[in-house]
Parts: sequence; C-alpha cells; structure tokens
Amino acid sequence: MILRSVAELPIKKGDRVLVRVDYNIPVNPEGLITDDARIKGTLDTLEYLLERGAVPIILSHWGRPQGGPQPEMSLARVLPELQTLLNHPVNFLSESLNDVTKASIDAAHAGEIFLLENLRFHPGERKNDPQFAKKLASYGSYYVNDAFPVSHREHASISLLPTLFNDPAAGFSLLREVDYFSKVLHAPEKPFIVIIGGKKIQDKVRSLRFLLDKVDEVLVGGGSSYTVQVARGLSVGQSIVDEDLVDEIDDIADSPKVKLPIDYVAAPTYAEPEKKKVVRADAFPDDLEGFDIGPQTRKAFAEFVSNAKTILWFGPLGAFEEPAFAEGSLEVAKAVVAANERGAITVTGGGDLLAMLRAFDFKDKLSHVSIGGGACLAFLEGNKLPGIVPLIKER
Ligand code: 3PG
Repeated sequence: MILRSVAELPIKKGDRVLVRVDYNIPVNPEGLITDDARIKGTLDTLEYLLERGAVPIILSHWGRPQGGPQPEMSLARVLPELQTLLNHPVNFLSESLNDVTKASIDAAHAGEIFLLENLRFHPGERKNDPQFAKKLASYGSYYVNDAFPVSHREHASISLLPTLFNDPAAGFSLLREVDYFSKVLHAPEKPFIVIIGGKKIQDKVRSLRFLLDKVDEVLVGGGSSYTVQVARGLSVGQSIVDEDLVDEIDDIADSPKVKLPIDYVAAPTYAEPEKKKVVRADAFPDDLEGFDIGPQTRKAFAEFVSNAKTILWFGPLGAFEEPAFAEGSLEVAKAVVAANERGAITVTGGGDLLAMLRAFDFKDKLSHVSIGGGACLAFLEGNKLPGIVPLIKER
C-alpha cells in the first residue's frame, strides 16, 4: 500500500492546505496538557508547508462533545503549546463554518497558519455529513491527513473530505505510522513477538486473533491477562476480569503461542502497596488483587524479548504509576530497549504505553512509538481505515 505524500503535492506560495491532525491530547484535571506527542508529531508536516509559503489550515477534534460547543472542550487549549513548538504564531478561528472564517482564510498571506475550533462542535463531523465536508473543502485547494489516531473513524473530515480533492495526501506522521505498522503486519522479521497488557483485553481481542497466525509468541500481562487466566481455568482472586469475554476467547486461551504470567505481584488494594506479595498464578489468594507481573514472569518475558527481531507492544504490564507495581513493566521495557539497540524493530501503540515510556524515559529509544490507540488496533485487525483509503495511490 503506497500513499500519496504531502511532499508530492505541487504546492505554491499562498496555497491553502487543509491539514487534518489529531490534537485530542490528554490533559490533567486543571486542563493542562500532559502529553504533547500528538502536536510534536505534526510539526514536520506543518513546517514543510510553511517553508513553501502555503497557508496551513489545521482541523482537529477534541473529546466527544455532545450537542454543540462546550467551552471546556475548546481547541484553544492547544494553541499556546502549538505556537511554542512550531515557533510560529497561529491564528485561532473560534467558529469553523461562518463567513468570518472564510473571509479570514481568503485574506491570509503566505506563511500564515490557522487552527479551527473543535470540529466535533458540529454534529456534521461525526455524522459524516456531506454538506459539512463541502463547507470545509471550500477553505482550501489541498487536503492532507496527518491524523493517524482518528483515521479509523468514518467522520466528515477524515473519510469524506479527502474525496472532495483530486490528490488527497498523507502527512509525514501518518506516513511513518502506516510504514511501521505495515512492516510489522506484512513483513515482520522473525521471531516476531507481541506483548499485550493494559487494563482491558476486550478492545485487543480482534487484533490478537488477526495476529495469532503471524506471530511466534504473544506475551500477555497486566489487567488483560486475568481474563485469559480465568478462561484457562485458574482463579485470580480480586483481579479485574472481563466476565463477558471469558467464554469467548477459548481460541486465545488455548493457543500455545499465548504466554501468560506464572507469577504476579498482588496486594489487598492498589492503595496498599506496602502489603504487596509475590503470588503464583496457579495459587492466587482469594483476597488479593494482581497489580504487576512477578519476578519469574519478568525474567521469562525478557528472555522472549531478547530473542525477538520484531516486537509489537500494547499496554503496560502492571499498574506502573505506583512504583511498587512498576517493576514488571520496567524490566520488560529495558529488554525491549536493549532489543532495539541490537537492531530489532520495536513498535508500540496506545496512550497508556506512551505514558509509561515517557515515565521511564524510554520514549525515544524505540523504532516507533505510535501516537494512536484505537486506530493502531483497527489497523492490526487487518482493516482498511476509512481515513487512509482515499490517500492510497498504489496497492
Ligand atoms: C483517539 O484519541 O483515540 C482519537 O482521537 C479518536 O478519538 P475517538 O475515540 O473519540 O473517536
């Protein structure tokens, strides 16, 4: 699958270029941005356009607003960070569709840049409304998708808007994402292992099924592992289990490729890390909850990692935010970084894993740290993403 790149567009000075990005970024309870990776990911595309004298018009969503504008979901929050990182002033347009917006864009000079207000303030965005897409299309002569994390959504600015242009193109961040995930999916160097963690296994089941016959081993830890242990017939004390899934994942639970923890670090509750103890997976105490993989599992998982040439990782292996439960994730992350240093392809996805890699200061030590979550999983289910299909120039 070869995508048309933004670098192939015959952009001239003053051309208006719609750039769909995903600035749906995490913020803390005070509303401050806690991870700017999604902004940073778009900088090279924006800089490339600015260098050519284009007028980039940035389109994004934030959150899931219901029933019109909600001030606490305004994209104005990303403006200071964007301007600092880009080292360039950005004009914010607080209403995406009115005449003022159109007049401001029409009057812009080469090198000016605009950020439109949260597209999801308009119901047309999520309803994939052709009129909404048409209105957005009238603002520019080119369309660039640099929003991999939302490219699995059939939303107006993602799947419909590109079809209104002759040569919709991919931005550099989206190209990097597709390049790495395609490599992993279609031409992985063997041994190829997948590490699955995170609280919920439900959203990963379909990708896991799709990947099972492509991989050599799947290491399952974190909250995701307890449901599989139960499906294998073990008890897991007070640990989180997706009861609805237990009877539906026999194929995964029975696969010899799926490696589960043989021990855990457990405690009465998350708030009592001082009471933690190591327990065997086949003798899990009824009154404890698992919060990390145990020392024997760490060693075994690190060993698999050290033999692998391709490693794909989703979800932390324990509640790493609490130092007492971080060792499993840390040990395996160290092994993955070491594998990367000796030439293995190491690819990770999902917001929690990104936060974990940041906390361990490993974010820049892997081949590719995706800024996507649901989109990575949809891609790894073998789906053709609605935001990517219009950008394909060769299959
Ligand atoms: C994400 O953060 O995963 C994307 O921005 C998609 O968001 P959504 O799940 O609200 O569509």
